[in-house]
Amino acid sequence: MTDKYAVLGNPISHSKSPLIHTLFAEQTGQDMSYEAIEVALDGFAATVRRLRDEGYKGCNVTVPFKFEAYELCDELAPRAQDAKAVNTLLFRDGKILGTNTDGSGLLNDIQNNLGFKLMWKDVLLLGAGGAAAGVLWPLFNAGVGIDIANRTLDKAQALAEEFKEAGTVRARSYADLAGRQYDLVINATSSGLKDELPPLPDGLFKPGALAYDMMYGRETPFMAFARRQGASHISDGLGMLVEQAAEAFFIWRNVRPDTGPVLEKLRK
Ligand code: ATR
Repeated sequence: MTDKYAVLGNPISHSKSPLIHTLFAEQTGQDMSYEAIEVALDGFAATVRRLRDEGYKGCNVTVPFKFEAYELCDELAPRAQDAKAVNTLLFRDGKILGTNTDGSGLLNDIQNNLGFKLMWKDVLLLGAGGAAAGVLWPLFNAGVGIDIANRTLDKAQALAEEFKEAGTVRARSYADLAGRQYDLVINATSSGLKDELPPLPDGLFKPGALAYDMMYGRETPFMAFARRQGASHISDGLGMLVEQAAEAFFIWRNVRPDTGPVLEKLRK
């Protein structure tokens, strides 16, 4: 019987996950289906339980349900506990198990696909919402110090406080970035969705720097800013999307797909 999977979100019609997982399944010869399900904002828990009861094997979870998924799980992997968010569910023996593949997806994309080595680099993370929180721990593990800048400074300070045991981390206002320079600037704000640019100063990028936007689909104002400022490397988050999907696929199927051809196909 074909094993069933789905991605749950709201909105979800734009999701590339069904295509990505279908390509992975074809490539690795796995007998599975993967669909996108738009879930009512108050219907997440009921939908997950229904899918579990209908025999689905697992789900991906996207905006705005990652925190609700974290709260719903019967068991959490350490990396979901660290991120306080779940993007991958696995149904086993009637239980809902949760993990988070976003952080490793980001790291794989930056280090393997883009060839940018993280160790000892100075990193600036823009944003202090769920997307930012989800990648902090994996970044620390990769051996970097992190400044977190956020419009609402309180939220950056709370995040820095929460992660202070994990590594070198400091909260900064955007105004406080003037005169500072970084090897890697990651945009984890939702500013791109509104075609907005966080208030960044000139001269932010060190020679050889990478500007990485976790959004994908088009050039964001942040990417355009990085281009104007002469950042050496500029990337959107499509590779992160494919890599987090590959990690989820591996967790579900115990087979690791080759992400390169899939990423190439999506870029076309
Ligand atoms: P997500 O789960 O995607 O992180 P979120 O929790 O709503 O979503 O967080 C959105 C993040 O984008 C926040 O850090 C937000 O800053 P505030 O905390 O100050 O609201 C940031 N953000 C959104 N629009 C922005 C903009 N135009 N400029 C700078 N930061 C922005």
